[in-house]
Amino acid sequence: MKQGKVDALLGIVFGDEGKGKVVDVFTPRYDVVARFAGGPNAGHTIIFGGKKFVLRSIPSGIFDEGKLNMIGNGCVIAPDLFMAEAKELEAAGYDLRSRLHISTRAHLILPTHRVLDRAYEAAKGKNAVGTTGKGIGPTYSEKASRTGLRVGDILDRFPEKYAALKARHERILSDLDYTDYDISQEEKLWMEGVEYMRQFQLTDTATELNRLLDQGKNVLAEGAQGTMLDIDHGTYPFVSSSSTTTGGVCTGLGIAPTRIGEVFGIFKAYSTRVGAGPFPVELFDETGDRLREIGHEYGAVTGRNRRCGWVDLVALRYAIMINGVTQLIMMKSDVLDGFQTIRACVAYEKDGVRTTDMPFDTEGWQAVYQDLPGWSEDLSAMTSEAEFPQAFRDYVDFLEKELHTPITILSVGPDRAQTICRKG
Ligand code: GDP
Ligand code: IMO
Ligand code: MG
Repeated sequence: MKQGKVDALLGIVFGDEGKGKVVDVFTPRYDVVARFAGGPNAGHTIIFGGKKFVLRSIPSGIFDEGKLNMIGNGCVIAPDLFMAEAKELEAAGYDLRSRLHISTRAHLILPTHRVLDRAYEAAKGKNAVGTTGKGIGPTYSEKASRTGLRVGDILDRFPEKYAALKARHERILSDLDYTDYDISQEEKLWMEGVEYMRQFQLTDTATELNRLLDQGKNVLAEGAQGTMLDIDHGTYPFVSSSSTTTGGVCTGLGIAPTRIGEVFGIFKAYSTRVGAGPFPVELFDETGDRLREIGHEYGAVTGRNRRCGWVDLVALRYAIMINGVTQLIMMKSDVLDGFQTIRACVAYEKDGVRTTDMPFDTEGWQAVYQDLPGWSEDLSAMTSEAEFPQAFRDYVDFLEKELHTPITILSVGPDRAQTICRKG
């Protein structure tokens, strides 16, 4: 029998590219949708039939009743937040328990990891990362330190393991002089969340996934965050703590590189970043404000303003290289409607030096732009490529040539239906 493939759908810039929307659109083509990295720092928005859902830990394939969804070993999971998210979906009529499998190897985010997140951020002062406060960094650090607790731990002698790790965290917080916190309420909910999670299939998702692939089933790996937030390849130290790239798909699901099929790289027709860190294309003027307003660029998890700028071809080329992107998906094209001129960052410049390669540290680098004509038509009302204005076609052609990769899907609005497939 022909083996199945794992296609990856990855955010290739600073996250919030629209992964949730496209995973939801793609789900009918697959048998399994699996998250391989990150946790409740993610906020994936799905809109259909006038309803809106923001998913954090649960894969965006969950709305298609016939499909299996997995939370892989590379993810971190907070039982209390997971319970809240899952209950909301159950209340909306979606049956999760038979269709959502969770890796016993995924790591648990404890309430004290969230306190540590705040404590480390406070200690960094003006160098704070601007994390989502969900305990992501401390949990992945704990994993690398080989002191973490995994989902499988809730099945055996959990109270003593939990108490030992919590005590360790309390000692660290006391050393940091960070003692003004109260997690009693949070801890109660968290423990309820642990009980709730026991009702789900907690399994060796890697073995299960490989067996399904051997049976010819196809899998969509749903990325979280984006390449520029990757722990190895992003704008370190202003990054998240997981592997958000194609390499992370393999380690975060337990599948071999030979299983990977298509790699879909998703990006916006412009750029955004939430949190601190260098961002050479950032606009501090009214154009930036206009992109934020029209694009509703406020974080799905924290509500923070997203920083906005024009599309960054240096970052995109780099991400295409790191991930082996085979097809590009451009989102939020409609947000650029009405701009007389559209700009694209084609290189970075610093102290008279120009580069098109990603520097070690992008701090202090200025964007070099190429201008392109804009359009005034309303893309969001368009349902086929034939309706697109010439200036938009030219923008898409320009990006494809610069990036040497086909753009096979264009998104023109937040709804499932506002998705135009071109080729591929
Ligand atoms: P994700 O984290 O990559 O899943 O993306 P988010 O959900 O955090 O952010 C994407 C936002 O853009 C959400 O509010 C979506 O509803 C919205 N969105 C997605 N595609 C489009 C599009 O083509 N046009 C517009 N205007 N909004 C979109
Ligand atoms: P999705 O999956 C955008 C950012 C945070 C912060 C940095 C580290 O919705 O695209 P963390 O809490 O992970 O330690 O924060 O990473 N960040 C995201 N930005 N989209 C996300 O996820 C993000 N997840 C984390 O703002 O700058
Ligand atoms: Mg998001």
